Amino acid sequence: MFDQISAINRSHPQPPAAARSQSPPPAAHLFEADIRSPHDLIDDRPDDGVFRVHRDVFRDPEVFAHEMRSFFAAGWAFVGHASQLPQPHDFLCVELAGQPLVLMRDAAGRLHCVHNSCRHKGARVVHHRRGNRRTHVCHYHGWSYGSDGANIAIKGKAEGDYTPAFDAESHDLAAVARFGEYRGFLFASLDADVPPLDAWLGDARVFIDLAVDAAEHGLELVPGAVSYTYRGNWKLQLENSTDAYHFSSTHPSYLRLLERRSRMPQRTDVEAAIWQAGKKQQEMMGSFGFANGHALVWTTTPQENHPLYPLLPALRERFGERRADWMLRTRQLNIFPNLQIASNAALQMRVIRPVAVDCTEITSYCLAPVGEAAPQRRQRLRQYEDFFNPSGLATPDDTVTYEDCQRGFASGDIEWQQGYARGMGRLVWGADAHAAELGIRPTTSVSGSFEMSDETIFHALYRHWAARLRKAAA
Ligand SMILES: [Fe+2]
Repeated sequence: MFDQISAINRSHPQPPAAARSQSPPPAAHLFEADIRSPHDLIDDRPDDGVFRVHRDVFRDPEVFAHEMRSFFAAGWAFVGHASQLPQPHDFLCVELAGQPLVLMRDAAGRLHCVHNSCRHKGARVVHHRRGNRRTHVCHYHGWSYGSDGANIAIKGKAEGDYTPAFDAESHDLAAVARFGEYRGFLFASLDADVPPLDAWLGDARVFIDLAVDAAEHGLELVPGAVSYTYRGNWKLQLENSTDAYHFSSTHPSYLRLLERRSRMPQRTDVEAAIWQAGKKQQEMMGSFGFANGHALVWTTTPQENHPLYPLLPALRERFGERRADWMLRTRQLNIFPNLQIASNAALQMRVIRPVAVDCTEITSYCLAPVGEAAPQRRQRLRQYEDFFNPSGLATPDDTVTYEDCQRGFASGDIEWQQGYARGMGRLVWGADAHAAELGIRPTTSVSGSFEMSDETIFHALYRHWAARLRKAAA
């Protein structure tokens, strides 16, 4: 399949990204009508008003294997948050593309990301998921490593009659090819051939900034992550968080609960207040697609009901009126391929770990400002549990629906998904007025009423997806 993609790519080179800000781009699509084959996967024809995704993208194990190699073993991916390792000698085990890694903070406070595999015989050296240790000793032959991953002792070294060639080798736990931090968010790449992290994140950084800057002393993860799996493709989760269209039909029980709460005068839940105010005030929404597959959907909500509203004057003073107002908008940010940050009444971080073409593990965290007062923290946690927790009122609706989609994908005669068209008629190439407020340069922008429920938000994901797989096949 990917040999064909490669051949097509050579005959249809990509236009420069800069051209996109002025007018619809020349064909950025994988396949053109005259060379379409059964293996076409992304039908991206902006001039014809068409964007479709083939169902094999969600159901073909061969596609999944290529995704794991191209996106998780050979590109930047999220691995952890600095607040998970606050103290010297803290460590946290993670996994990337099936490879066991350890995040470590050394005695000087520097962060490292190394392979959790002894240089001697390959055994995992760190067995607890997280903790604090100055020294990690391999259970097999006792080689030991410091909290920076450096080898500090080889058992029986003096008696071992090693050669100078052995001594010349590094015996340290191997560092990942690239490791970087952006404002507490940690990313790693197992391949050195990647752009610098800041360039990779691009203008998506502005939305990480909005979340971090709204917390005066920075953000931390509330202790207690929740992991769960669903029998569906990983991109169903990536899409869903930025999918406004599903909300009223997938979550009616949640909406009914909000309505009921809103009639209870003693309740002060933020969502109930938002629901009540939302009846009087038309919400607006919009989205931005960025290079490298990142995307953001935003919604306006009545500011006076937002948890940050009491801080608004101070935020305006520090960050200016426009940026402060953006801090109070609902924002769902996707950092390709595996990080989602949802900013609304609560602040949630989801990490996506694909397990198989039809199985995905999600780990969900509550983010909170460092030093938050106990009553606000309590309310934040209740809000978070209410909607986001797997035992909450929304996540089970979504995961059941992903599984329903995956079962529906078994209908092999149906090739093309039609869920990428809403909002295409009002798409702006480059920055719209809302992007201009923040000084960012997305590749696409859309805005309108909440009922417009844009689906062009997914285009950035699949354009990047297709470009990366083409490059891998070239
Ligand atoms: Fe949902």
